[in-house]
Amino acid sequence: MPATTDPFARLRTLKLTPLDGLFAGDEERVETLSVEVAGIRFDWSKTHLDAALLGEFAAIAEAQGLAARREALFSGEVVNVTEGRAATHVAERGQGDPDHVAAAAASHQRMRSLIDAIEGGAFGDVSGILHIGIGGSALGPELLLDSLGRGTGEVGVSILSNIDGLAVDDSTDPLDPETTLVCAVSKTFTTAETLMNLEAALKWMREAGVEDPYGRVIAITANPAAAIEFGIDETRILPFDEGVGGRYSLWSSVGFSAALALGWETFEELLEGAAAMDRHFRLTPLERNAPVLAAFADLAYTQVAGAETRAVFAYDERLRLLPSYLQQLEMESNGKSVNAAGEPLAGPSAAITWGGTGTDAQHAVFQLLHQGTHLVPVEFVAVIERGDDQDPAHHRALLRNCFAQGAALMAGEAAADPARAFAGNRPSSTILLDRLDARTLGALLAFYEHRVFAAAVLLGINPFDQFGVELGKKMARALDNPEAAGEFDASTRALIERAGL
Ligand code: F6P
Repeated sequence: MPATTDPFARLRTLKLTPLDGLFAGDEERVETLSVEVAGIRFDWSKTHLDAALLGEFAAIAEAQGLAARREALFSGEVVNVTEGRAATHVAERGQGDPDHVAAAAASHQRMRSLIDAIEGGAFGDVSGILHIGIGGSALGPELLLDSLGRGTGEVGVSILSNIDGLAVDDSTDPLDPETTLVCAVSKTFTTAETLMNLEAALKWMREAGVEDPYGRVIAITANPAAAIEFGIDETRILPFDEGVGGRYSLWSSVGFSAALALGWETFEELLEGAAAMDRHFRLTPLERNAPVLAAFADLAYTQVAGAETRAVFAYDERLRLLPSYLQQLEMESNGKSVNAAGEPLAGPSAAITWGGTGTDAQHAVFQLLHQGTHLVPVEFVAVIERGDDQDPAHHRALLRNCFAQGAALMAGEAAADPARAFAGNRPSSTILLDRLDARTLGALLAFYEHRVFAAAVLLGINPFDQFGVELGKKMARALDNPEAAGEFDASTRALIERAGL
């Protein structure tokens, strides 16, 4: 099939102006390329965005109908065209289409009532939660708990995602089977890992003498019929809307274990923070719109400069899980080769997202960022208010390191010895939160969702399906039947034989 019309054809003929030149002629540059929203400052001044690129992107946004697609998202139109449904995560934050908002409010009410019942003793003593789920059914809740849960709450949450039996041991070891509540989270309630791990958790409780293990399971799913068939009583099922994609689902009932452990008020603040970002994304003109500017910068590097990856470094331990959360959000959404009409893309789609925490990463991967041959746009995420009880000197050192890395990437340094020279002109953006709380975290995560959506519209792809994960699952299922092994390729057959499967 011939490649589709290339929205970036003209853009690709441009050259990026070196960063020092962009700063030299423009005293307003930092302000022009910074946006403040919901307690977060976003700064793209150390990227190569300039008036020429912004003009090109404005034209591409116009041609791709970004403003209209944004409205379609909020008004509950079918934006997930390959699966024929709306994407309703914004409704979980009370935004957009009134019918979806009402449905989300009803499911939040159900969550809240169950939390009240648990706190009121309906499940006896509850000392811990075993949250079972994978991908979007685990990464979001785990990030919330790790970011906001330090030193709070009496109920500890253990996350079980991997199908590896060691993960079952690791997650159940800290828990008491008699006083644990199991939250089985699966949008489809068909995911092999989650169902196998749920069986393992039931066995763990049964073996410890728990009389009614099923009675201590709460199922969170968009497919209640499958949970009922599994044996979970309807009264302990928290449904959510089919239009909420897994990687966009932490705002829905999927956030139940986090809401239980962190408190309902915190969960509501998270939703309010996300709603503030929703309003910004929906109502702000594109040239001052944080998710849109971020998408422009991302696409400048993938489409114009040929960058294949982008790196995110959290300069705050509370955000250490952010890079892995973003890997699913960005790569499962925009890692596609065809547009929404099924035609091949003319150029690259999403960059590969990777990253880590600062300052650890400085002593591991920053060598390549400063002197390697790859162009890697870097995103620094830091928090002004410290979250530790240590000497404030630690936090000041952390922030100083963060800002110094961005400055060094950009400035570089000449040296007579080429091995000691830094070319500079290496781009970075900085996201600086006033403080890390439920509101700013909600706004930050909603920012990333909308950035993915804006990039998808510009690329012409559907960010809400993920058919690419299906083939491997199908083949793993086929291998359940040893006879089927014969139909696999020679290399796979040899591995199966060697492992004695
Ligand atoms: O395999 C990918 C995926 O479908 C993700 O999109 C999803 O977040 C994850 O699996 C878990 O799916 P479910 O919530 O249906 O168990």
